[in-house]
Amino acid sequence: MEKYLINPNEKKSKINKEIYGHFSEHLGRCIYEGLYVGEDSAIPNVNGMRCDVVNALKEMRIPVLRWPGGCFADEYHWKDGIGEKATRKKMINTHWGGVVEDNSFGTHEFFELCEQLGCEPYVNGNVGSGTVQEMNEWVEYMTFDGTSPMAELRKKNGRAEPWRLKFFGVGNENWGCGGNMTPQFYADTYRRFQTYVRNYGENRIYKIACGANAEDYGWTDVLMQNCRHFSGLSLHYYTTPAVYKWRGKALEFDDKEYAVTIAKAQKIDEIVTRHSEIMNRYDPKKRVGLMVDEWGTWYDVEEGTNPGFLYQQNTMRDAIVAGLTLNIFNKHSDRVRMANIAQLVNVLQSPILTDGEKMVLTPTYYVFKMFAAHQEQTLLGSYITTKYYEADDREYPQLIESASVAEDGTITSTVVNTSMEEASEIKVQIADTLVQSVKAEILTGDAHDYNDFDRDPVVKTAEFTDFTLTADGFTATIPACAVVRFTICG
Ligand code: AHR
Repeated sequence: MEKYLINPNEKKSKINKEIYGHFSEHLGRCIYEGLYVGEDSAIPNVNGMRCDVVNALKEMRIPVLRWPGGCFADEYHWKDGIGEKATRKKMINTHWGGVVEDNSFGTHEFFELCEQLGCEPYVNGNVGSGTVQEMNEWVEYMTFDGTSPMAELRKKNGRAEPWRLKFFGVGNENWGCGGNMTPQFYADTYRRFQTYVRNYGENRIYKIACGANAEDYGWTDVLMQNCRHFSGLSLHYYTTPAVYKWRGKALEFDDKEYAVTIAKAQKIDEIVTRHSEIMNRYDPKKRVGLMVDEWGTWYDVEEGTNPGFLYQQNTMRDAIVAGLTLNIFNKHSDRVRMANIAQLVNVLQSPILTDGEKMVLTPTYYVFKMFAAHQEQTLLGSYITTKYYEADDREYPQLIESASVAEDGTITSTVVNTSMEEASEIKVQIADTLVQSVKAEILTGDAHDYNDFDRDPVVKTAEFTDFTLTADGFTATIPACAVVRFTICG
């Protein structure tokens, strides 16, 4: 039996709700069809935003949404997406599928969506092909309350009040699709662009600089030498199994591909630790947040779909990746202040898939809904013993956990069993606490299980009762391939 200790006396960092954040790019069917169908659509919508998706995301407690990219951000010219829709510029989305972008979803529509969702907007500016003036004017357009050319233009377009904008990214992947820059060149460019990202009135912008790709620790080192100019530094890391060829399929995979997927996902612990160590050298007080603003699984696109649309299905394997990753982020919440899974609807590891008027909630959706209980709570010290497995030349644990406490003392713990086959018995102890009650919820199934259109969900959360209270905690059997959330009252 494995031992699991939760220590309520060891209160650690706050788990920012933004760790449960999301990302929506003008890519494939994420924005168009997935979120926005237009006011004239037969699909029920409010001001063009589809009601089924908005309602599901509100239930999942989406805290923050990043937009408009991704690689698209560094080709996006925001003035193309304002004003009368009929006269907005039509262009080619060169990065993603070569389709026509009609700019019917722009700044006003993005803020409308965030207002409907009740989440923070996170806007990503264009450094790669944009100008300092363009970025400066966008921020003025969105946030200036007074008389100025951009505020007047916003008013003319129907919005009198400025919006509240907290998060602003200065470029995306500028080491790659955002301009192929060296770290030093980007660091200098960043300093220049950010000077003109101004705080107007009460609005305070949390500036986010483009950070590293996965294990590029040198990029972080160079950027951190300039860290007084930003509040957040991004990090992108995708899980790609690639055992046989390409990235592997979303639905068909063998035991080896499953294990490699989990090992690669778990690697984010090491990656975040190493970037944090570099950040600690320059910023020991942890003022700057590490913003993992793109993460998730990336497989080959579903056969028969546009290769540039990055559409993939989503199984219990993805739920395990989501659960273990979110537990890891919770444990690093002293430095990780935001994370955004890629992407919200119909692209890569999506919580939601749509097909015309139909909608599917994926296993990943249910994990986000379960873990929402951690939002804004305080991380607790938690320690679990576990078996280890080997794949991709590394060891990864069978059990990965995190625990947090609410102001009223209620403890939430999420435990993930990464094994495809082996259940695990755990003896949970809550230090110095007489446990009064425990409630639990589970998401489990075969690793290949998935939800699809035109059938009842195969994967969904259920009450979990396979545990027994003891004097100072409880014992439980965590089934194979499962995510369990315990709610513990002392
Ligand atoms: O999420 C898909 C793409 O992955 C994004 O546009 C880019 O930033 C990353 O390479």
